[in-house]
Amino acid sequence: MTDPRHAALARLRQLANRPGGRRITPLFAADPERAARFTAGLDDLTLDFSKSSIDDAARDALLDLADIAGLDDFRRRMFAGEMVNPTEHRAAMHMALRAPAGAGLSAQLAGVSEDASALASAERACMRAFVEAVHTGQKTGATGARFTHVLTIGIGGSDLGPLVATEALTFGRDHTPMQARFLSNVDGHAFLQATQGLDPASTLVLVASKTFTTLETITNAHAARAWIADALGEGAVSRHFAALSTNLSGVAAFGITPEHTFGFRDWVGGRYSLWSPVGLVIALAAGWDKFQAMLDGAWAMDRHFRDAPLRQNLPVLLALVGIWHVNALDCATHCVLAYDERLRRLPAHLQQVEMESNGKRVTLAGVPTTWDTCPVLFGEPGTNAQHSFIQLVHQGTRVVPVDFILVANPDHDRPDAHRALAANAFAQAEALMVGKSEASIRAEMAVKGATQAEIDAVAPHRVAPGERPSNTIMFERLDAFSLGRLIALYEHKVAVQGCLWGIDSFDQWGVELGKVLAGGILPELTPGTAPGAHDSSTNALIARFRGLRRES
Ligand code: F6P
Repeated sequence: MTDPRHAALARLRQLANRPGGRRITPLFAADPERAARFTAGLDDLTLDFSKSSIDDAARDALLDLADIAGLDDFRRRMFAGEMVNPTEHRAAMHMALRAPAGAGLSAQLAGVSEDASALASAERACMRAFVEAVHTGQKTGATGARFTHVLTIGIGGSDLGPLVATEALTFGRDHTPMQARFLSNVDGHAFLQATQGLDPASTLVLVASKTFTTLETITNAHAARAWIADALGEGAVSRHFAALSTNLSGVAAFGITPEHTFGFRDWVGGRYSLWSPVGLVIALAAGWDKFQAMLDGAWAMDRHFRDAPLRQNLPVLLALVGIWHVNALDCATHCVLAYDERLRRLPAHLQQVEMESNGKRVTLAGVPTTWDTCPVLFGEPGTNAQHSFIQLVHQGTRVVPVDFILVANPDHDRPDAHRALAANAFAQAEALMVGKSEASIRAEMAVKGATQAEIDAVAPHRVAPGERPSNTIMFERLDAFSLGRLIALYEHKVAVQGCLWGIDSFDQWGVELGKVLAGGILPELTPGTAPGAHDSSTNALIARFRGLRRES
């Protein structure tokens, strides 16, 4: 049977292919109310998606696709803790991590239901007690020195979310409860840099790993363990290490005590784990209240996503706009420009949230999709991006939809700088949409006295075609609450898109093959071992690597 998505997606394409169906400026000319009619909000948070070629018919067609894909039921099933991740037989219940204890969110597994919000709240109480003990100095290192630094070891979801949040909430502040360092890459240089200048006596090491088997994290954790033990003795390890994991036996085997172990369930996906004990570093570095406020902000977005009608639902709208760009306009990329230095690592986190979730090529039924799924996401802070890759977004051959993220009030006392930052964000979005015609460029050059030959030579190069889409996401201030809300907005956007594309957004089988092959190649890099049997390129590269190595 043909997937009903086919017809709905074909309709989107048909709408985009109407004469002028990809243009934006005529929609504004025809409708003075367009900005208001294609803007939605939640409290101070605004999503303006009017700078897109979506008109009423396209919006209706996108909502029809949502209907056909069963989005309403998907939302219900997700919040009911049902198995929305069938390939791993798991629920996706990260919302329970930010819900209050009495929220009654349950996760179902094999017919057994557990009160996920109560469980998460109990674990949160343990985390909070730990954080307070560290901050008050009740818990110290082996020499009795207070912990001033936290070195957190983890990768992917066990790194990026906590990193973004910790950076955003401590950025540029002298007085934070603790200083955080992050170690993710197994590259030994990363270890050197992460521990540079750190005093083991005052460093608390967190090992964040859902599985507690990830090669990079476990290798780094052993290196950190040796770093502590060499400086303070083996006995210091239990006082200086804490673990955040679902694999409690793995943690115990590593030698981390149960009092320093904070668990969570496998209904928390790695890329959604910053709200779980994996986010402990956020609370240690920024303070418990901020961590809690971040959860509250995410929970506010959860409730909005769960309860708001689809037409006014921010994650749904953000997802629909993305679907329009991918499936109607064939855009293969998506750019996120946060005009806020504190969010400079947000694109990295969103890359995992979006591309690990929706970088899939088969439907839930296991058959290849005949439609495109997740675009390639990239981004940088604005305004820096304007002086690097934005040229391509304005004048390249491909259309790259952009999300501009901007806060109205900074936490510094340089209003002039903030106005300049904001002016650039608005100007970029406007310039992408309105562009600059050849006629106006020719006229301008002529007024400035250019010769006809100069005008002919240069004018075509200066043309900006415009009609390039963007969303603007804006809110009052970047604080813990709004940060949680923003990240949850993107998480739910991704879930909605996964539902509309009919894929499993919560697994990540694609990363497995590389891991398995790396495990096979690792022993072949040791001097004296026999090479394995790979393709001739891999064989030759390994042989060359071994030849170049200076290792006994
Ligand atoms: O390799 C991908 C991945 O499995 C991510 O999904 C995950 O966030 C990361 O590795 C780290 O996994 P873990 O937390 O189990 O160490």
